[in-house]
Amino acid sequence: MNSENKHLWHGRFELKAADDLMAYTESISFDRRLWLDDITGSRAHARMLGHVGLLSVNEVDAIIQALATIEKEMLSSEFRFLDSDEDIHTAIERRVTEIAGAAGAKLHTARSRNDQVATAFRLWTKRELGVVCGHIADLCRVFREKAETAGFGSGAAYLPGYTHLQRAQPVLLSHHLLAHGWAFMRDIERLHDAIKRLNVSPLGAGALAGTSLPIDPEFTANELGFAKPFDNSLDAVSDRDFVAESLSALALVAVHLSRLGEEWVLWTSEEFGFAKLNDAWATGSSMLPQKKNPDIAELARGKSGRLIGNLTGFLATMKSLPLAYNRDLQEDKEPLFDAVDQVRRGLIAMSGMISTASFNTERMQTAADQPTMAATDLAEYLVRRGIPFRESHAIVGSMVRKVVDEGAQLRDLVATSEHFGDDALELLNPGSAVANRSSRGAAGPNAVPDQVARYDAELKRVTVH
Ligand code: ARG
Repeated sequence: MNSENKHLWHGRFELKAADDLMAYTESISFDRRLWLDDITGSRAHARMLGHVGLLSVNEVDAIIQALATIEKEMLSSEFRFLDSDEDIHTAIERRVTEIAGAAGAKLHTARSRNDQVATAFRLWTKRELGVVCGHIADLCRVFREKAETAGFGSGAAYLPGYTHLQRAQPVLLSHHLLAHGWAFMRDIERLHDAIKRLNVSPLGAGALAGTSLPIDPEFTANELGFAKPFDNSLDAVSDRDFVAESLSALALVAVHLSRLGEEWVLWTSEEFGFAKLNDAWATGSSMLPQKKNPDIAELARGKSGRLIGNLTGFLATMKSLPLAYNRDLQEDKEPLFDAVDQVRRGLIAMSGMISTASFNTERMQTAADQPTMAATDLAEYLVRRGIPFRESHAIVGSMVRKVVDEGAQLRDLVATSEHFGDDALELLNPGSAVANRSSRGAAGPNAVPDQVARYDAELKRVTVH
């Protein structure tokens, strides 16, 4: 066996691993993106080995130097991978030994790839979830800016609010936009919560049972910025709850993007005509010259399926694994890499699409001013006059039936009804139904400004970490 091409386990085996075994079991094709985190973990481990006296000062220096060289090689794409580099951890350790010689061969003292890989992947996940949170916050800011333009007070733009996708009651456009923002702010909090629990260092657990050597896991946990070291070595190397939790939180972000996307598909349709996409954020059709398609919104909807699949697939991988490390665990990386990539790109694209889009508020308001949209206000008018709500609901309901079935005008019916005074007619004026939604958190101009203040405070709270 060529010395350059030795496997980590070459001492125990007579024969070199079959090419097809390597082709099937390798992870370097995807885990090379952990290179920085592997270097970070190795640096901390080397310093710890020096700290407890298992390596000399010179040996630690040689390893740290080698790791710095590798970092440069990685950044400039000069790092040369070998066929025998099964994963990124093997590749980096091999190179450390090439550069640092005998000192490099000591780097793996009291360490297994099992605790090494868990450490690198936690470092990666912690950082990347933080990046995702930043992109979610950007989208929340887009909602806030668009809400500002749409207005919150009197004269602010409004549109029909829907239940069952049927027009229900008018709402301020700003209120509608911020509704999505609140969901995304919960996502930020959920991701921070996942980060809090994953913030534990597994380094020092070894293959599964710790080591007889006098290591200091507290030292490495500190070096790496983890809140604490593991408490149980078996748990440390086999726990991938952080992957499941991250996938779950990301799947929910994707579902939120999907629901938002679905609305934009509707809003930009000719049927709704509530919003218009900026050319740079829409696509055309290869055949139909008149088309302007909301592909970002559609893919935000479509990709949510994949994100949900990443979560359920990974849970299925985990469900029967005995303690501690099993090679199955290598299947933790691709779903999470993919989930992070897709959610990140989706957030950026949706932010761009929405921030550059324009609203047809006239069309929204015309739809919202349909007289029957004030039906609830008419019923509440009767409640104020002492009529029980069930009864007032029935009175107004029968008037609406006449409008729908017989083409009667609601205004005429109200004007001639014994139940209503003349003042009730004001409720049918354009914009008056939304103006009346004034309870806490409600959709009208008397309530939304307070909500906006709370939104700003919440956004500040979830982004200060
Ligand atoms: N590439 C492996 C993974 O990602 C590294 C750990 C391999 N450990 C082992 N005992 N074979 O899980």
